[in-house]
Amino acid sequence: MRPAPEISIVVPCYNERANVRPLVAALSHALAGRDWEVIFVDDNSPDGTIDEVRALAERDGRVRGLLRVGRRGLSSAVIEGVLSSSARIVAVMDGDMQHDESCLGRMIDAVAGDGYDIAVGSRHVAGGDNAGLASGWRTFLSDSGIRLVQMTLPVRLGDPMSGFFAMRRDLFAQTVPRLSGTGFKILLDVFLSAPRRPRVLEVPFVFRPRAAGESKLDILVLVQFVAMLADKLCRGFLPTRFIAFSLVGLAGILVNLAVLEVGRRLGADFTTGQWLGTLVAMVTNFWMNNALTYRDRRLRGARMWLGLALFMVICSAGAIADVGIARAIFSRDGQWGLASTAGAAIAVVWNYAVSSTLIWRVR
Ligand code: GDD
Ligand code: MN
Repeated sequence: MRPAPEISIVVPCYNERANVRPLVAALSHALAGRDWEVIFVDDNSPDGTIDEVRALAERDGRVRGLLRVGRRGLSSAVIEGVLSSSARIVAVMDGDMQHDESCLGRMIDAVAGDGYDIAVGSRHVAGGDNAGLASGWRTFLSDSGIRLVQMTLPVRLGDPMSGFFAMRRDLFAQTVPRLSGTGFKILLDVFLSAPRRPRVLEVPFVFRPRAAGESKLDILVLVQFVAMLADKLCRGFLPTRFIAFSLVGLAGILVNLAVLEVGRRLGADFTTGQWLGTLVAMVTNFWMNNALTYRDRRLRGARMWLGLALFMVICSAGAIADVGIARAIFSRDGQWGLASTAGAAIAVVWNYAVSSTLIWRVR
């Protein structure tokens, strides 16, 4: 019999083919003398990352691959990787060599021997560095996000946005049912979902520039992040997807108003402007929902055009219901604020429920 290793390193990866081999070599060196395995969780990358993993695994039993088909998402990849492990300690690190593997030993020791629940590789404590962030814009986003987040956290943490950490697997398992699982920030999600305040050690490290390939973080990931925080503030009362859908809806109102205003300046009458505004808002809302709310099941090609047509039908029904309900309430109570809010709320719930089941087919 061969027992499970003591440590699993979970590595989410998407299009990281060129980084797989160097990472395994780096881990072998950094974890020499320890009982470990590495689990690459790949979302069926077009560059064939999983083939590279399988090729290594054929010769080295410490290498495992978890392939997910038809799904996307860093956080959910990490969650499933950890759930596939039977090790006492799990560590999570990026697959692009940006996280310094030589810190792993200290992080693991902190959890294995020193009574800590979580050890976080931190770019923001003395000795740590953010040098690898791609641009000034990224640095600004990262810093503002961190300040925002620190206000919501139960523990003091210099780098709550880190994706590099080691923790007790049993504690992770306890948080899983409450994790929102969307977006990029799995560690933050863990902190906001833990059943009790975890004991945390921060280990400084220098965030290296990416070795090969490119970053997957974009503006949509940021919006998803805001949706996750909103989800946590609502204590899971509303699903993250619904919050994202509502945010998109709000953006749609702005688009509608903007088009109406442009139309007015160009001399269009109100009805034409409103029609145009509604039409444009429907198309942009569909696009935003496809790229953001349902990012993990994004429609492409012919299915996308079919989805757009269906979306416009669904939203039109929603709009008719909206106006009808608002009219009914207004004629009874005479309060137009209440009437239009109720109409809009019911329309959003309708649009969300029907789009989720018919267009993006969320189970
Ligand atoms: N399976 C899977 N699915 N992996 C993904 C996905 C996905 O949809 N998106 C990204 N990854 C993998 C990448 O392949 C990489 O190994 C790791 O997740 C981090 O992604 P990057 O695209 O390299 O992110 P980054 O360098 O911009 O962000 C890093 O810094 C953040 C702090 O600013 C990451 O370390 C984040 O975890 C960290 O929070
Ligand atoms: Mn990276």
